[in-house]
Amino acid sequence: MKSFAIASIYLSVTALAMPVCDSRTGENGVTLDLMPETITNLQLALFLENLEFAFFQSASANFTASDPALTDTLNQTIREATMQEATHQKALRNILDAADADQIEPCQYRFPSQNTSQFLALGRTLSSVGVGATVSLAGSIPAQDVELVSGIASIAATEARHSAFFETANGKLPNPAPFDTPVPSTWAFNLALGFVVPGSCPVTPPIPVLSPLVVEAAEEGDETTVDVSWDPVQTSIQVEGNKPLFVAWINQLASPIYTPLSRTSNSTGKATMPEGLEGPIVVALTAQDYLERLEEVAVSTVAGPAVLVS
Ligand SMILES: *[C@@H]1O[C@H](CO)[C@@H](O)[C@H](O)[C@H]1NC(C)=O
Ligand SMILES: *[C@@H]1O[C@H](CO)[C@@H](O)[C@H](O)[C@H]1NC(C)=O
Ligand SMILES: *[C@@H]1O[C@H](CO)[C@@H](O)[C@H](O)[C@H]1NC(C)=O
Ligand SMILES: *[C@@H]1O[C@H](CO)[C@@H](O)[C@H](O)[C@H]1NC(C)=O
Repeated sequence: MKSFAIASIYLSVTALAMPVCDSRTGENGVTLDLMPETITNLQLALFLENLEFAFFQSASANFTASDPALTDTLNQTIREATMQEATHQKALRNILDAADADQIEPCQYRFPSQNTSQFLALGRTLSSVGVGATVSLAGSIPAQDVELVSGIASIAATEARHSAFFETANGKLPNPAPFDTPVPSTWAFNLALGFVVPGSCPVTPPIPVLSPLVVEAAEEGDETTVDVSWDPVQTSIQVEGNKPLFVAWINQLASPIYTPLSRTSNSTGKATMPEGLEGPIVVALTAQDYLERLEEVAVSTVAGPAVLVS
């Protein structure tokens, strides 16, 4: 039963064109019995798809024929991407309906990009988070719902094509690293919240909200250093006194690397980037330097994360 439902929800254009009914005894009889963790993961996936759709739709609406940066390829790619994100939204909504789970309605969004070149630069970060979050999600699906994994992986692959497009459009290689960097759900949700107008979400997935972290990288000789800053009020308990703080660096499939933070005030500090990182890097402020599992690192974040693309 489950494989039939997945096949019709993911693969059949007809099923996508005729979404399953709200009720579990809907017309086409597709119902899914999913684990609660799976439902939370799918709700997060929909939360992210809602953001990505809004991002591409806003960019498409902004394009004008007089913009010298707007090529036909750019126009068509972004139009296709908008429709692809809409299809991902619909597929996820269909699955949540079939599982009789709550939908995640879109929020209002704000993007810090005012012209095409800023949009293309932001697209690099946003799409690499999309890829990492979807990869992580595929890995968090419980064994009971394993049939969902290939559908989620195929969304991740499409997101990776969007990411490769943005890399190329920014004069970078489309394939910066052999492995993509997974972004666990707590981090993906918080990175997405950075683009949400506060208080505008009708409903959010049940995932904790973290204190934001601002990270600025600078090359100093052979080294890259980062200046990090956070809100001392939101993080007061974890950073009080002279507790040692660390920067956790997540890259590709390696274990987290921790480097000590040298504090420059009670809301700022400096750290050195480890060598040899490639592709998107996820950076978080932590008060521990030993956790290995990403979801554990994520829930013990003091502030962050932030994403660096080199
Ligand atoms: C579209 O233009 C508006 C108005 O300038 C801007 O606020 C928004 O960020 C732009 N969208 C994107 C995706 O760049
Ligand atoms: C982008 O492509 C669409 C569909 O092909 C076309 O209608 C639209 O005019 C194009 N936009 C610009 C600004 O060229
Ligand atoms: C886009 O806007 C930024 C900030 O206002 C500006 O520095 C940049 O030159 C603009 N780029 C183009 C291509 O207009
Ligand atoms: C440290 O942070 C607190 C807020 O938690 C602030 O009131 C205080 O002035 C800060 N102290 C210094 C030395 O910056």
